[in-house]
Amino acid sequence: MKIRRRENLVCRWSADGLQVGLPGQHRWAKVSPQLFAVLDKAAEWTDADTLAAEFDEELAPQVRKALATMTDLGVLVTEDTETPAMWRHWGDVTERFHVDARDANYLVDSPERAEVAGAIVAEGGSPPIFKDYPGAPLVMLPRKPLPLHTAVDEVFTRRRTHRLFQDAPVSLDQLGTLLFYSFAPQRFISGGPFGPQQARVSASAGGRHEVEAYLVAYDVEGVPPGLYHYSPRLHALELLHTDASRARVAELSYHQEPSYSGAFTVFTTAVADRLAWKYRHPRAYRLWMYDAGHYGQTFDLTCTALGLGPFQTVAFPDTEVEKFLGVDSDQEFVAYLLAAGVPEENGALPVDFAHPEPTVITGSA
Ligand SMILES: Cc1cc2nc3c(=O)[nH]c(=O)nc-3n(C[C@H](O)[C@H](O)[C@H](O)COP(=O)(O)O)c2cc1C
Repeated sequence: MKIRRRENLVCRWSADGLQVGLPGQHRWAKVSPQLFAVLDKAAEWTDADTLAAEFDEELAPQVRKALATMTDLGVLVTEDTETPAMWRHWGDVTERFHVDARDANYLVDSPERAEVAGAIVAEGGSPPIFKDYPGAPLVMLPRKPLPLHTAVDEVFTRRRTHRLFQDAPVSLDQLGTLLFYSFAPQRFISGGPFGPQQARVSASAGGRHEVEAYLVAYDVEGVPPGLYHYSPRLHALELLHTDASRARVAELSYHQEPSYSGAFTVFTTAVADRLAWKYRHPRAYRLWMYDAGHYGQTFDLTCTALGLGPFQTVAFPDTEVEKFLGVDSDQEFVAYLLAAGVPEENGALPVDFAHPEPTVITGSA
């Protein structure tokens, strides 16, 4: 039987020495120098006899045993083993993350849950739930949001990604309403031992609301062009700097036009510690992505209800955007680029909406 080392193996140095992640399992196996030598030689298709012959004769039984064990554990594969294509495309570290993030025990309804929560709270160091820029010049937003009277079914069916915008400003009331519903707390609820928790339109894991919003205004009445942090606590824009033009955002979005051709762009970020303080397992890394999606959809639907055209993308260089926003990349990650403006529409559809030719719609893309 032909065997070889599986592609997409991840190894790590732990206090115990070198370990290899067992494919599909949360477990890791220790890689002794001898086992390392065996795995190292199994890069190409070979068989147990050939491999064993590469070691001293007295080691052969051990090598054979190691090969059998490693084959059972999936570290070595046979010609029948199929590796799903996605892991070849997405890479070994992604596969490992996928495995490690699965099956997290949420201790739902378990007495241990209260113990764990108690220990976290007793440890202290709860991160602030709002980010502030004390001393930053403020643009206060209208306190009263515009009425949103478009029927919900109309908002649902009209929401489309817009890529063409009119050269027209957005009003301060429209922007204020959009930011209020997309990013501001609507009320506060008890988070038990974790203290008061915000309730926003978007759901957020554990009510942590780790999302921050940074606005680049180009054409908003009453808002001088610039980069602002939206303060949900104040319902105000905190001016960070004025060197923030469409041209600058073009550089930060691979020049994909709808990212910067509307009236404004919003970058959302995730303040990691707000989540990590409460959720201490790899699955928590997924949570900011779910949350970014909820916020993006709320932004899109609110834009639609206000007659604005929304756009969203993740096509941006994270490191450069984080530098532009002035956030600490180790603590706060850029999550989403959201943009909007007055759309070029044709009835209820974007003007460039492409209707498909009559065709048979199959199950495959
Ligand atoms: C995570 C994400 C990333 C996207 N990135 C882009 C993008 O880079 N460029 C683009 O033109 N559209 C982008 N879109 C929009 C999708 O192409 C669009 O949602 C899809 O074609 C369906 O059209 P609809 O939004 O009008 O229903 C993105 C959408 C999502 C959810």
